[in-house]
Amino acid sequence: MEFLGLYPTWYEPGVGSGWIVGIISTVHVLFSHTAVGAAIFFAFLANYAHRHDRPDLLEFIRRYGLFLLVFSYVLGSITGPGIWYSTTVASPRGISALIHNFVWMWATEWVFFIIEVVGVYMLVYLANRVDRQTHLKLSVIFGLTSYTTMLVIVGILSFMMWPGKADWYNETGVLSGFYGPNTFAQLAMRTAFMFTMTAVVGGIVAARFPDPAFKKDVARKLAWLGIGSAIAGVLVFRWYLTTLPDTALLVMNNRLPDWFPLAVMGMLAAVGVYFLATLIQPRLLVASGAAAMTLVVLVFGLWPGEVARESIRKPWVAGQYVYSNQVIGRDVPGRDIQSEIPLIEERGFLQTLVFLPDNLRQVTPDNAVEAGRVLALTTCSNCHSLSPTGMRPLRNYFPAATDLEAIVDYLHAGLASGNTLYMPQIPFTDDEAFALASYLATLQSPSAGAAKPQTAGHAVTPTLAASAAREMNP
Ligand code: HEC
Repeated sequence: MEFLGLYPTWYEPGVGSGWIVGIISTVHVLFSHTAVGAAIFFAFLANYAHRHDRPDLLEFIRRYGLFLLVFSYVLGSITGPGIWYSTTVASPRGISALIHNFVWMWATEWVFFIIEVVGVYMLVYLANRVDRQTHLKLSVIFGLTSYTTMLVIVGILSFMMWPGKADWYNETGVLSGFYGPNTFAQLAMRTAFMFTMTAVVGGIVAARFPDPAFKKDVARKLAWLGIGSAIAGVLVFRWYLTTLPDTALLVMNNRLPDWFPLAVMGMLAAVGVYFLATLIQPRLLVASGAAAMTLVVLVFGLWPGEVARESIRKPWVAGQYVYSNQVIGRDVPGRDIQSEIPLIEERGFLQTLVFLPDNLRQVTPDNAVEAGRVLALTTCSNCHSLSPTGMRPLRNYFPAATDLEAIVDYLHAGLASGNTLYMPQIPFTDDEAFALASYLATLQSPSAGAAKPQTAGHAVTPTLAASAAREMNP
């Protein structure tokens, strides 16, 4: 008997497994990007200090480095493995796809990361103990290795969006999956904004320097770094948009919460005003203000940014062949990987899931709701919460009053055909569609005002939604 090798689903009822991953990675992005930006900024400062005989700047590097040891290297090293743990349970086959395609890339990244960690310790603890020339070399090595870790990760992240070259599905070479237009645009965008973060976080350190003249000098450098990088980031973002698949642009324009662009633009404006103010009047740079700006960047810049990146990748989680619900939805001839859709179309989920109690393999009037719940967990919960809270709760789309037949129609029209661009093709047998509909009909309609912002405006009746989805399909 042929089975679909899906792992048991990790379901988090509060906010949804996707958000757990999202929260950990957003925090991680702040730590990691700040560190990489700082590493390159340090190399620049060390060079400048060397040429202009400014040992006080080395003291700034030492203190900022020490701050980063805790801020980025301790907390970043906790959230980094946190991403591995959470994604491994939330998306085991997505992670498996990345490891199978890029195992040596990860290994490379770890080697560079080790050099980076040793480097930051050396920069901090050898400052003023080795000659300046050596310190300068250390900071250049630290800067380059840090940036290499970023390059490697960005290549893999952009493969998650789509493989670098269209022919990757046949030839499946590491480099042709890794390098594509999106890789470079994403790298450029992250490079620009990482300097913005370095400038914002650096203010926390610079503000504590007692010497006003020195503080003024560093405040100005940080302000220029912040303003220049934010402007560059906005320009590069336009390039990044041109490297996205069409479906990503469609989802971006139609399916993201309305507050996302406003939040990001507001955040960038706030950063601009903040740096202009500290440029003109460096005394305005205080540690609490810089810490508050860091939070603003985290909540209004990084969170919508990361959630958007996750959303526009839908329905795929990796390489446009592993769906977010872990089903393989496309052939990859070069790797001998076959789409699982034909198997599901032929035999259904309940006959092919491995981790399923035997009494649920056949749908009966008695077990329909329970079998439907398993189907919802397996095929929908990666993107939709089954409870009232969390990510795109399913109950918002299926008010209690909806009749079974309408839901079954929706499942067959929208999902079975793969017509909805942002949802996987999910073919159900008639029995399964009935079971899932029976379960969905038991979800209560949301109480007024309970709809989460991320679903606001999209709570449509299923049949309407199906036709809307077909219209979206070019
Ligand atoms: C890959 C992620 C993903 C999976 C898996 C998924 N959905 Fe969706 N679904 C979405 C997204 C994204 C939206 C758009 C949400 C919005 O705009 O609020 C959506 C919207 C919907 C809507 C609203 C109407 C529409 O068509 O836009 C319904 C109903 C729905 N999903 C049902 C389901 C059901 C039932 C399942 C499981 C059988 C499922 N979805 C699986 C991502 C997914």
